[in-house]
Amino acid sequence: AIDIAKLRDLSGYVTYDPGFKNTGATKSAITFLDGEEGILRYRGYSIEELADKATFLEVAYLLINGELPTQIQLDSFANAIKAEAVVNDSIVKVSNAFPKEGHPMCEIAALVGSMSAFYDVDGNEDPEKSILRLIAQLPIMATWWYKKSIGEGINQADTSLDYCSDFLQLMFKTPGSSYQVDPIVSKALNKLLILHADHEQNCSTSTVRLVGSSHASLYASISAGINALWGPLHGGANQEVIEMLEAIKADGGDTEKYIAMAKDKNSGFRLMGFGHRVYKNFDPRAKIIKKAADDVLSALGVNDPVLGIASHLEQAALNDEYFVARKLYPNVDFYSGIIYRALGIPTNMFTVMFAIGRLPGWIAQWKEMRANKEPIGRPRQIYTGATERAFVEIANR
Ligand code: ACO
Repeated sequence: AIDIAKLRDLSGYVTYDPGFKNTGATKSAITFLDGEEGILRYRGYSIEELADKATFLEVAYLLINGELPTQIQLDSFANAIKAEAVVNDSIVKVSNAFPKEGHPMCEIAALVGSMSAFYDVDGNEDPEKSILRLIAQLPIMATWWYKKSIGEGINQADTSLDYCSDFLQLMFKTPGSSYQVDPIVSKALNKLLILHADHEQNCSTSTVRLVGSSHASLYASISAGINALWGPLHGGANQEVIEMLEAIKADGGDTEKYIAMAKDKNSGFRLMGFGHRVYKNFDPRAKIIKKAADDVLSALGVNDPVLGIASHLEQAALNDEYFVARKLYPNVDFYSGIIYRALGIPTNMFTVMFAIGRLPGWIAQWKEMRANKEPIGRPRQIYTGATERAFVEIANR
């Protein structure tokens, strides 16, 4: 007879689903994703339309509040963000303590984590205030790393500019000199941020919800999300894609060699920017981004040889049985780095750009999780270790 109590002891009545490949961890009304059909919608609006017609702050408002804003609501949201666009001086000192060689993802995760200490000392800050501070200050803090890396002083926010243009002047204006934002660059950045703004229960978003489920602060939860995003299998892939394309170029542009390596499980090499946990047809964001890459490069008159290598690699993979059978298509990160590079963003900062774009999604998901009074996240396990054994004194080991 089956000993039910023993069975429960060994494995319990738990679902074993490593990587949560088929686990619905929550109900959510924010983002709809159909991986088979390649459909992505924020609050019901298609990603294609939003990327074409909306501004990033409009999309942020939509994600966080559930509806597209009226002009008055949008202006008031944008003004409230501008009002928070001065970072506490002590956080600048924290940034200065970081080495310029350190990775900017490490720095922004730490700076965002530190916001609790500077703004939310007793843990009672109104989350709506934290939301405005995060949206206003994350891009500013991100530019500090860049300025440090090139040995230049930091800029202050210019509240006469829109969100994307202000980020560009914070990055590229040399203090004391004038700087004109190129509208082509600002528009491209707006599109990229929208494409990254939410993507339901991916690794970093699940992390934000999980950390927040213990009632940790929004700052602490977003800081955890930034760390989760950093990994090369998630947001870090955009940096890895460009590095891979550069390596292929330096190696004579032999894409077939790299396709063969990606197929060889012993090589330890994966085609970065290919494959997706959910999209098994195509990533709708990749389609938009590929066209944007063509448009931006031609509008800016940039001739980036890695774009040719990327196209070649894509064609080779799409016609290869290995990639076809596994439904591996280019994902959003395959082309985003090429655009970021054309905009002048350094490779090390690509994942930081992703974090700036994903921030409203993380915030919306955190808010939803708290509003729904979700229980603390606490997965179970299947124990596979030793059975009970007697302690061995150190002298006898
Ligand atoms: N290159 C070569 N083979 C791949 C690749 C790739 N990029 N991606 C998956 N495979 C293969 C796997 O080896 C596996 O083969 P097998 O069935 O013969 O063992 C099969 O395809 C399924 O792959 P999994 O790793 O099981 O798929 P999973 O859903 O766990 O991983 C992931 C998805 C992490 C995106 C994966 O495709 C990958 O590592 N891609 C490269 C990194 C990347 O671009 N990440 C960005 C994701 S998008 C984002 O986060 C914004």
